Order: sequence, then structure tokens, then C-alpha cells
Amino acid sequence: MYLTNEQEAILKGEEGWVKKKCLEILVGLGEVYGADRLIPIVSAQISGVSYKTLGEAGLQWIESLAPTKVAVPSTLNPAGMDLIFWSEMGVPEEFAEKQMRIIRAYERLGVIPLCSCAPYLSGMAPRFGEHVAWSESSAVCFVNSYLGARTNREGGPSALASALTGFTANYGLHLDENRAPTVVVEVRAKLSGLSDYSALGYYLGKVLQQGVPYLRGLTSLGADEAKAISAAAAASGSIALFHAEGFTQEAQSVSASGLERLQVDDEAIYGVYEELSTLRSNEIDLVAIGCPHTSLSELRTAAALLRGKRVASSTKLWFFTSLTTKALAERLGITQEIEEAGGKVYTDCCMIVAPLERMGFKNVALNSAKAAFYAPSASNVETVFTTLENCIDIALKGRVR
Ligand code: F3S
Repeated sequence: MYLTNEQEAILKGEEGWVKKKCLEILVGLGEVYGADRLIPIVSAQISGVSYKTLGEAGLQWIESLAPTKVAVPSTLNPAGMDLIFWSEMGVPEEFAEKQMRIIRAYERLGVIPLCSCAPYLSGMAPRFGEHVAWSESSAVCFVNSYLGARTNREGGPSALASALTGFTANYGLHLDENRAPTVVVEVRAKLSGLSDYSALGYYLGKVLQQGVPYLRGLTSLGADEAKAISAAAAASGSIALFHAEGFTQEAQSVSASGLERLQVDDEAIYGVYEELSTLRSNEIDLVAIGCPHTSLSELRTAAALLRGKRVASSTKLWFFTSLTTKALAERLGITQEIEEAGGKVYTDCCMIVAPLERMGFKNVALNSAKAAFYAPSASNVETVFTTLENCIDIALKGRVR
């Protein structure tokens, strides 16, 4: 692999052992995947933040990396708790103490402590064609598909290695030839809310597993819809890029002729709702919205649905978002409306990386196929996957029916 003089010097340890190790990781990955060189990136997004997933060894490793500093603007995936209101959430104190040590360790590296899987909603949106090293799979798919920037599905360590050096290996979705569509998907289903888009993404990931779908037949695709498709397609499969005819910029420059076809009808979408609803009883103790982190408009819609109503005392209604979105929601009175109805808006974390089982939750309603897919194994809970409107209704009643 070709390395510049600067990269050779880092590899020789001239900028310290941390950067040397990081470059070794990147060169190793590049050699495995046949990269010709390392390319500069404009930002990094690092997973492996929750103490639930990182554990003691991970914590100690992050703490050992200072005083090295990141070379490009870098943010974090969600942590295992709201960094301010963790006690109110019921997060055990000893977990909180470890979690804060992780955040402080990243801060010492110069990482921006924006703990969000949707940092593109908080000003961290790369431009079309730019190269980045992001590791949250939903954000990877969003960045590649909706923004037309370029990233592979990085692991936590490789994203951190890229953050600290400012490079990534030039392979996979950084290259034009790997961004061409591999299958045409005719969307015949009528998609009416974000959970339908989430179900579509889940279906695509499950059926295709990998590749680059070229979607035809969508009638709308805003950032929230693209966010929903991206998260689910990257969870049930390893899809990291889709093109959407009439909506994504890159779809205009790729050819979809002569490819295999897959048709998605209403039945396929209904099937996802059924598959991801495992609840055997009728009671719900947590309604969790915000996978990926909610946008301002999602919070606004929820607040309108809650206006003048009250969440059942037996149930919690929690929204997960970024610090910046919550700040705007507070300024607009949206958070207050949600809280007046008995809901809560938490930041920095999500329902999958928070220790739900240790917080006593058993039955969870969700409007995200990704969250409904992961919650049973991540937190040993039963799930209902349904629309936002139904989720709010369930929160008000405290039960499904
Ligand atoms: Fe984000 Fe957590 Fe879902 S990291 S995409 S809210 S599982």
C-alpha cells in the first residue's frame, strides 16, 4: 500500500505510540481489503461508548490513549444513559460512574461529547462526495445514501484510529465501483408513516442481507424517512448504501438496468410489524421512541399527539434524542408539552444501549424496527413494533388494547 511521508513517519512512531498503533490498524485493514492507499477524512463518528457494550477492558483502553488528540472533528455514538438525568432514569450508580469515565476519556482525546447516532441532525453532516469514517451502522447508511458522502461500516476501534490520525483506508464504499446498485427494489407498498419506512428498511436488510438496493416507487423521502430506512436495513442486514430514484443525488448517476428485481408490497410491510411484535401479555411498561435519535419534527409530532393528555401511571414514555435537538425542542416549548403529558426527553443514550433489564423494564413498545429487532436480545424484553400514533396511544392507556 502506498503511504505518504507523513504516514510513514507516524508508522515509525514519530508521533507517539498511540498514532503508530492507529496507523497499524488502518494499514492492516487496508491490506486485508486491498486498499491502494490511506485517504484523508473530514470527520469520524465513534461507536463503543456505552459501558454496557464497552466494559472494563474497553474503558481502560480508551483511558490509556491520552494525551493524543483527534485529527478531525469526531463525535460519539449514544452512551448507556442520559449524562445529566441518569439517576432519574433509574440507571445504577456504579454503571453511571463507569459511563462518565468513558465520556471523560473521550473528551481528553478531543472528541466532541455529542453522543448521538444521528449527528448529521446536529451539524455533523458531511457534504456530497466527502470521505468520513463513521461507525454507527444507521448513520453510515444515511451518510452514504441520503448525503452522498462516503464511509465504510467502521468498527469502534477503526473509527477511533481514523479520528486520531485523520485517515481511512481507501476500499469498499469509498470507491465508485462498489457504490453501483446490485438489485432494483420496486416499492409497491403504501408507506404512510416513519415506522412503515422502518419496516421497509428491515425487510430489505432481511431479504437482501447485503448489496446496494436501488429503490423505485417511493413517493417521498425526507431525512426522517431515510433515517428510518437506513437504521433498519443496516440492522437486519448489512446494507450500508441505497439509492432512491428521484430522491438521492447519486441515483441520477448510476445505472440500474439489467439487475435482479425485488418487489415490496403491503403484505411484506405488515409481516415486519408482526414479526417484530413478540409481546405475549397486554401490559407495556416502557414506550421508547428515538431509534435513531429523534429529529425536532418527530418530537413536534409526538407533542401534538400528547397535547391535553396524560401518560398512564404504570407506563413510561421516553424519547431519545441528541443534546442539540433537545435544546431546540426546549426553546420551542416542545419538551415542556411532552413533559406536561408525563413523557420524558432524554439525551446522549438510547433504549438499546441503556441497561433496560437492570432498570426493571420487561415489555417495550417501539416505532423502530431496528430497536424492536435488537431489544429482546440486548435487554431481554418483549416488544411491540407499531406506529408512532399507536405508541402514544399505548403510553396513554398503559397497555396495548
Ligand atoms: Fe441509535 Fe440506539 Fe437505534 S444507537 S440507531 S437509537 S439502537
